[in-house]
Amino acid sequence: MRGGCTGARGARVAAWFVLGWAAGLAAEGSKIVRPTDRAALAGSDVEVIAIAPAGTLELDGTAVAASEPFPNVLHATVKAGPGEHTLALVWGGGRTEVRFFVGDKAPEGFRPYVAHPPRAGAACTQCHGLSRRGRFRFVGGCFDCHQEEAFANTHSHPAHVLRECGMCHNAHGSTAEAHLTLPKEAACKQCHN
Ligand code: HEC
Ligand code: HEC
Ligand code: HEC
Ligand code: HEC
Repeated sequence: MRGGCTGARGARVAAWFVLGWAAGLAAEGSKIVRPTDRAALAGSDVEVIAIAPAGTLELDGTAVAASEPFPNVLHATVKAGPGEHTLALVWGGGRTEVRFFVGDKAPEGFRPYVAHPPRAGAACTQCHGLSRRGRFRFVGGCFDCHQEEAFANTHSHPAHVLRECGMCHNAHGSTAEAHLTLPKEAACKQCHN
């Protein structure tokens, strides 16, 4: 009897765990990587990068065309006039959005967006490729421009330990100091506690 009860409860917990985990994965995997939320942009040509299974983009509620340079990866340049805008990424399992501002005098809470690499036209393939199974991934390329010898001075580790630069940096640009995606203390805690 008791065993049966525990078993049923165990199964419920397991089902909850699997569902929660799958939903978490979908939410985690699909995102707008450029521009970042609350970015204040100078120009009206806005480069957008996003990833989602069969995703589509909407600027202020209107669908925008995007190319798909890699499976599930969206790339577009949208025209956005002065003022505040909402960019949404929509896919089967959900939706996520970022707000950005074009022009001077950005409202409170918006910060100047710094593009990276700073010069326009860096090819996606400088840093990305496909795995043998055809999965889109980061393949390196940072040290084509940055000095690997200087890396340990600022990072507490040589580059091979921290080779997943995306754990801490948004390499497409951001509004944050050193393009960090999380505070320094949290950055280290991904591996240390
Ligand atoms: C300077 C190097 C660099 C360039 C150039 C670059 N990326 Fe990235 N990109 C990265 C890094 C680093 C990550 C984080 C990788 C990670 O977390 O797995 C990333 C992540 C992404 C992601 C999210 C992937 C995921 O699964 O979370 C997408 C989508 C993406 N890049 C698309 C592009 C596209 C499209 C281009 C060209 C327009 C581009 N990138 C150019 C370095 C770059
Ligand atoms: C095409 C050349 C190029 C590539 C490739 C490149 N960067 Fe950069 N990066 C620059 C330049 C130029 C700057 C701005 C000048 C500077 O601060 O060094 C910069 C700035 C940065 C900054 C901000 C520095 C600061 O103090 O604000 C970070 C962080 C950064 N890059 C990380 C990366 C990462 C991570 C990669 C690989 C995923 C990468 N870069 C690839 C050229 C490049
Ligand atoms: C564990 C988090 C973490 C990872 C992973 C990481 N960084 Fe950083 N990075 C930081 C932090 C934190 C700073 C700011 C350091 C400071 O200001 O004291 C920084 C600063 C930088 C800077 C600007 C300072 C400088 O050295 O010129 C560059 C460039 C940079 N990182 C490149 C990279 C590259 C390339 C990779 C991947 C090979 C990478 N980072 C991986 C956390 C990380
Ligand atoms: C990708 C995982 C990873 C991240 C992120 C990371 N570390 Fe580490 N760290 C390691 C590993 C693995 C070791 C043990 C092997 C070694 O010494 O290289 C280590 C060891 C250390 C040590 C030596 C003392 C000890 O505990 O063994 C220090 C200090 C340290 N890390 C500081 C940092 C700081 C500061 C950051 C954030 C900037 C950071 N680490 C981020 C993986 C990581």
